[in-house]
Amino acid sequence: MREALARGRDYLKRRSVENPFLDAEVLLARVTGLDRAGLYREGERKLAQKEAAAYSQLLARRAAKEPVAYLTGEKEFMGLSFLVNPAVLIPRPETELLVENALLLAREFFSSGEPVFLAEAGTGSGAVAVSVASFMPDSFVYATDISPGALAVAEKNAKRHGVREKIVFLEGDLLSPLFALGLTGRINIVLANLPYVPTARLKRLAPDVRRYEPLLALDGGPDGLSLYRRLIPQARRLLSVPGWLLVEIGPGQGAGMLKLLEEDAKNAPGGRPWEAEVLFDYGGRERVVRAKIG
Ligand SMILES: C[S@@+](CC[C@H](N)C(=O)[O-])C[C@H]1O[C@@H](n2cnc3c(N)ncnc32)[C@H](O)[C@@H]1O
Repeated sequence: MREALARGRDYLKRRSVENPFLDAEVLLARVTGLDRAGLYREGERKLAQKEAAAYSQLLARRAAKEPVAYLTGEKEFMGLSFLVNPAVLIPRPETELLVENALLLAREFFSSGEPVFLAEAGTGSGAVAVSVASFMPDSFVYATDISPGALAVAEKNAKRHGVREKIVFLEGDLLSPLFALGLTGRINIVLANLPYVPTARLKRLAPDVRRYEPLLALDGGPDGLSLYRRLIPQARRLLSVPGWLLVEIGPGQGAGMLKLLEEDAKNAPGGRPWEAEVLFDYGGRERVVRAKIG
């Protein structure tokens, strides 16, 4: 294993892969079925021919900048392992802030045993919906996506983590499928990590992201906020009073998002204001907007 690890690391390093050692470890663990500690316990073992061929293939794909999570088919989020494929965005660690804040809200404002109804627009792999359903007792989630391929992955993840009965998956644009279910005024918390990269910036994304992750999960329109601009009035109609909207944003989008919320209050008939604030991630960057209505 030691020899294979060194070979993989040197190969990826020569091809300017960012974390060559870590990636070689993860890919070798995948091929051998060992965990990372096992690679060292079996340090002297030579790879079988089949293993060596599979490993070389994965290394070549990684050198072409294919993300490790697509190569292994899994990504950890909130301590849970999620299935991923190229139909879904790979869940990012910074999105845990969105989930953590939803859990905090539920703990602060809902008594134990009281059901909490949530809606998530753009569920992708289901990372957010499944984590919330797993960690929030008495929660029920309506999760949408416009991509049937993404919904298929999200459903598998819900089954994988034993929360399939707590989530309804709906195909459609943003939260519009919820209106047909008569949920106006019935949702306590709306969550979303919708695409927010401004279109002109897409070409500047790292090749791993730009070449392999779905454009549908990234492109947020001219200012990055096109989808949120349409989501806010839908959230207002669906939310109970009080109700909360929590969305992930990119650094520098806080002021723009607060402005959209103000405009929404002005445009809504009898418009209640949103009480909104920007929350920062552990790197000190704007990451989540939390808005309360009522
Ligand atoms: C940035 S990804 C987030 C995925 C997942 N929620 C997460 O945090 O890892 C955005 C998701 O929104 C979906 N999406 C894009 N436009 C949409 C729309 N108009 N209505 C519903 N979902 C949409 C994409 O298919 C993608 O799965």
